[in-house]
Amino acid sequence: MTDAHAAPRGVGVVVVAAGSGSRLGAGVPKAFVPLAGRPLLAWALEAVVRVEGLGSLVVVAPPALSDPEAAAWAGVALPRGARVVAGGAERSASVAAGLAALDPTCDLILVHDAARCLTPVAVFDRVVEAVRAGHVGVVPGVPVVDTVKAVDDRGLVTSTPDRSSLRAVQTPQGFRRDVLEAAHAGGAGATDDAALVEALGHRVLVVDGDSRAFKVTTVDDLAHAERLVGGPGYT
Ligand code: C5P
Repeated sequence: MTDAHAAPRGVGVVVVAAGSGSRLGAGVPKAFVPLAGRPLLAWALEAVVRVEGLGSLVVVAPPALSDPEAAAWAGVALPRGARVVAGGAERSASVAAGLAALDPTCDLILVHDAARCLTPVAVFDRVVEAVRAGHVGVVPGVPVVDTVKAVDDRGLVTSTPDRSSLRAVQTPQGFRRDVLEAAHAGGAGATDDAALVEALGHRVLVVDGDSRAFKVTTVDDLAHAERLVGGPGYT
């Protein structure tokens, strides 16, 4: 018997861009900070529109910028049919708002941080492929190069996890729609969507991420992104 959910078809993408980006100190929300003259969001959308099977796209913007006619949107070519909704106070609330606005026919959902603005489309395609292959939750990840310590509130080390078993995870994170909706209905406050899905008892697969999928968080990250787009492949 064929499980209607085993091979999701239409891909719905939620791009969360509602964060304040206070650590960047740019005076505008992070997704609207310019990188080589164009907002981070514009760079992020370049890969999103190339996702195979894209059926629906929702951009989640800060409430004050949820009108794409606002000046800060300059340089963002919103793809035809894309919707813009206002985000919430926490990332998980922004994802939930985006999820609710996606076309109901999409049964494979990708959630992507606009701040990971240089993520290659190949990462999106790897995640989609693994969800289509039957995994209910898939995240891109890269090996951790530093040794990681868990500490208590006094800074004393409580454990040192085996580094070879650790991955730093990125976005886009991909899910079967019913699973992601149940995860968001059941909880909030997690720093990624996979954690909510894991909390429901589902197994999440990590596929290869990419160093270019780093999250622009600090001024140094922005400088790194500027160097990358000045190099081959981004001109
Ligand atoms: O704050 P952080 O860098 O972890 O945010 C990751 C992504 O989530 C960013 O693209 C940011 O715009 C988005 N976000 C959001 N709504 C929030 C907080 C973060 O859409 N309330």
